[in-house]
Amino acid sequence: MPKSASPAWLFAEYAPVGVDLASPEAVDAYDRNQGTDPARDDALLDRLGVTEGTRLVDLACGTGSFAVQAALRGAEAHGVDVGEAMLAYARKRAEREGVRVRWHRAGFLDYAHEGDPADVVTTKAALHQLPDFWKQQALLNAAAVLRPGGTFYLWDVIFTFPPGQAAQNLDWWVDTAARAEGEGFTRETFETHIREEFSTYSWVLEGLLERAGLEIVSKDFTSPVHGEYICRRV
Ligand SMILES: C[S@@+](CC[C@H](N)C(=O)[O-])C[C@H]1O[C@@H](n2cnc3c(N)ncnc32)[C@H](O)[C@@H]1O
Repeated sequence: MPKSASPAWLFAEYAPVGVDLASPEAVDAYDRNQGTDPARDDALLDRLGVTEGTRLVDLACGTGSFAVQAALRGAEAHGVDVGEAMLAYARKRAEREGVRVRWHRAGFLDYAHEGDPADVVTTKAALHQLPDFWKQQALLNAAAVLRPGGTFYLWDVIFTFPPGQAAQNLDWWVDTAARAEGEGFTRETFETHIREEFSTYSWVLEGLLERAGLEIVSKDFTSPVHGEYICRRV
């Protein structure tokens, strides 16, 4: 959905959802808590076949470590995010590393890719910001950014537990993932995520991916609440 088409019913993707990451302080804390790890980013870039000249678009790029790491290996990296403070942090990171990343203040729904289509589109820990109807529109837009045969990568909080066991699994997640203030994401962060953000079941996401023309090549769930999909644009 390009910027020119903004009907009154369009989801307000620039408005905060759930955990508020709008302020520079919140962004600093987010970057600290998520534990930016260039080696982890490099391992994923290797798996996705990102090399010199690959055109990569990271949607909801946050503090930009993945896009910067892609640029460091010579990729044409684009980082897209609705958060001004996130992009300011990401810009500084790219300057510090001496690489060029094309930063775009835009969202899943209104990002309008210019130039040649991307070889790889990624999005990590962010699609859950949209309700399911809007996830579908976001995935259609992501597919439109990609060349046919291009790769789409999704990592997120994704539920694979049986629906009847949701409460036990969500309690387990909060209990095992939460850290003390200053040592990582707190209990409140996870509780807010579950209550106010829009993480969903794998079987819902799979229907959305397929209907966006993104064929699932592989999937991997590291826990009942986390997982990834690697897809090929049909
Ligand atoms: C939890 S952070 C994840 C950031 C990054 N992808 C990472 O893995 O660290 C979620 C990000 O999504 C961004 N965001 C939220 N809604 C968005 C939307 N509709 N379109 C693009 N970015 C969005 C936020 O500004 C934030 O940077």
